[in-house]
Parts: sequence; structure tokens; C-alpha cells
Amino acid sequence: MTITSPQGTVAYDVIDNIAWVKFNRPDKRNCMSPTLNREMMDVLDALEYRDDVGVLVLTGEGSAWSAGMDLKEYFRETEALGLPATRKAQREAYGWWRRLRWYQKPTIAMVNGWCFGGGYGPLFACDLAFAAEEAQFGLSEINWGILPGGGATKVAQELLPFRKAMYHAMMGENIDGKTAADWGLVNEALPLDALKARVTEVATVLLKKNPVALKATKDAMRRVGPMSYDDAEDYLIRAQEAANSYDNEGRKEGIKQFIDDKTFKPGLGAYDRSKQSA
Ligand code: ACO
Repeated sequence: MTITSPQGTVAYDVIDNIAWVKFNRPDKRNCMSPTLNREMMDVLDALEYRDDVGVLVLTGEGSAWSAGMDLKEYFRETEALGLPATRKAQREAYGWWRRLRWYQKPTIAMVNGWCFGGGYGPLFACDLAFAAEEAQFGLSEINWGILPGGGATKVAQELLPFRKAMYHAMMGENIDGKTAADWGLVNEALPLDALKARVTEVATVLLKKNPVALKATKDAMRRVGPMSYDDAEDYLIRAQEAANSYDNEGRKEGIKQFIDDKTFKPGLGAYDRSKQSA
């Protein structure tokens, strides 16, 4: 059953342990207004620790994933209220993207259509990203006279080779999903009508993995980027030891099923978690 947020800007369904969360302003190409940003944070709150949610997919209703920030409600109307309102709107937008970057559950961006500017924030926040070949990605900020703010420059710089990032930001030309995959902005591009099936397949694989190990892995991957090798080595030892304090039996069970029971091979798939005692 689809649940819609009070102002209708976000909608979600939980089906077979996958939360399908949608930007739900199709008539405004799912651009992010302060209302949407507030409601999205509430939805992320509601879903994060639910036992029946193992993976969260973020997608868009209609022809857009998200056409970036709402130029009317997020910029013009907020700026008219002065600096405190501007800062509040920024906190609300950046707040849910940050929340999503460090979300307890694995997250997948399913980019069904337009993805512009501020949309790169939640795109990067998701652990994995799959796009329709037909989707269009653009740092359109330069086309209306600002720099790619709200993290968009950082996202392009993190995910794209330098020359491509610079071209993308300075030229204001869109790239399609296939090019986005070639450049590394998303994992894969598929025809739109095959997108949901592929995302479901990926989510289903993630659902079989140890959830404590998944959270430790996704955090580690983001954290080690700016660290020296030695700092990363130290962080990773401690991160594994901290993960063991939440689940010390899973890895032992995994080793047992491989070495003693010979019922699985870690190189070929996940151990059977249903056999793990608490
Ligand atoms: N902010 C505010 N309103 C928007 C936005 C936006 N980012 N994107 C779309 N809309 C509104 C349009 O004003 C229009 O409203 P109306 O029906 O009341 O006139 C409605 O959504 C539909 O938009 P159209 O332009 O008619 O839709 P179309 O499918 O022809 O084009 C497209 C889609 C290309 C995405 C176009 O809407 C567009 O260029 N949007 C802006 C994209 C952009 O540059 N976003 C900002 C990035 S920079 C940043 O996020 C900081």
C-alpha cells in the first residue's frame, strides 16, 4: 500500500523488504522544495530502523528523478525571507542528503529520468545508482548563472575524471544514462523498462548479506577516501572490531559453513544467515 507524506511530496511502498521511496512532484519534475526536503527527512526517519526494510530505493514519479532544487520555492521565495530562511532551507536539504549518505540500510538511486544540479546530492548519497539509458543528467547551474553548489561540484569531482567534471560543470550540456555509466556517475544504465527489474535483482542480493557487515562496509568506503593508507588501515581494524560488537556470530557462522560444513563458498555468494544463532 502506497503511503504519501502529508503534503504529498514524497510517497513510499515497502514490498518484500525493499522500501521504494519516490520524489512525488511529477508535475514539477520532482524538484526539491523546502516542503519536499522536510517530508523526505520524515520518511527516511520512519523507514530507517524498520525490521521489514532491508534496502531503500530512491526514485521519481513521472518523467523525472529530480530536476534539482526548486528555483521558485527553494531559492526565490526563501531568499525573499532573508538569511535565516535561506540557511534553514539549506540545512533541511543538506540534512536529508547527509542522513542518506550515512543511512543504516543500503541505498540505491534508481534514476528514471531528469537529474539536475541539486539532484546530484541525493544521487551521491545513495550507495549504488542505476539509471535509465533515457535519463538525462546535467549540471545546469551554469545555464542560469550560478556555480554548482549544494555539493554538486564536490559530487562531480568525486565521481568523474577531472576533465569530464570540468567540462560537465562549465558547459551545461546534459549526458544520458549510458554516458553517465561510462563516466562513473552511476553503476549501470539500462533501458527504462528493464530498470526496476535490475534494481530489484541488486536489492535482493543485498538483502541476503549480513546487515551489520553491509553498514560497516558502506561507511568504510566513504570514510577512507581522504585518509592516508595507515589511517585507513587503523580505521578499518577498529571498524571491524566495532561491527563485531554488534554481530560477532555472523562471520563465525560464515567461516563454519565454508570450512566445516562445506555448504557455500564466499567467493561465489553469501552464507545462509537463517542458520545463524542470535
Ligand atoms: N524549479 C522550479 N520549477 C521547476 C523546476 C525547478 N528546478 N523544474 C521544473 N519545474 C516546473 C516548471 O516550472 C513547470 O511548472 P509549471 O507547470 O507550473 O509551469 C513544471 O515544473 C514542468 O516543467 P517543464 O519545464 O514544463 O517540463 P519539461 O518536461 O518540458 O522539461 C526539464 C523538464 C528539462 C527538467 C525542465 O523543467 C527544466 O529545465 N527544469 C529545470 C532543471 C534545472 O536546471 N534545475 C536546477 C538545477 S541547479 C540546482 O539544483 C541548484
